[in-house]
Amino acid sequence: PKLIVVNRAGEERAVEAIDGLTVMEAIRDNGFDELLALCGGCCSCATCHVHVDPEFFGMLPPISEDEDDLLDSSGDRNEYSRLGCQIPFTADLDGLKVTIAQED
Ligand code: FES
Repeated sequence: PKLIVVNRAGEERAVEAIDGLTVMEAIRDNGFDELLALCGGCCSCATCHVHVDPEFFGMLPPISEDEDDLLDSSGDRNEYSRLGCQIPFTADLDGLKVTIAQED
């Protein structure tokens, strides 16, 4: 399945993502070094913050309280904000587009 990633400069690139990884891992493993993912996916750093394509937003698993709190600490939160490490990438999400959020 394909994941479409838009970097902070607005450049879009489709990457091949492995079913079972998280969106954060798929982005990081494809060389987007601006997605720091400092905590390695433990839902404690918010450096994997992305904005999800509205078309797909409703298909994602619900936001946990921890994720919600972390997103609140980010200046670039909007209604489509998620932490990439909290989104398991599955074949259902083929074509999902995410934009890497701006740094605080
Ligand atoms: Fe740290 Fe997602 S990688 S919260």
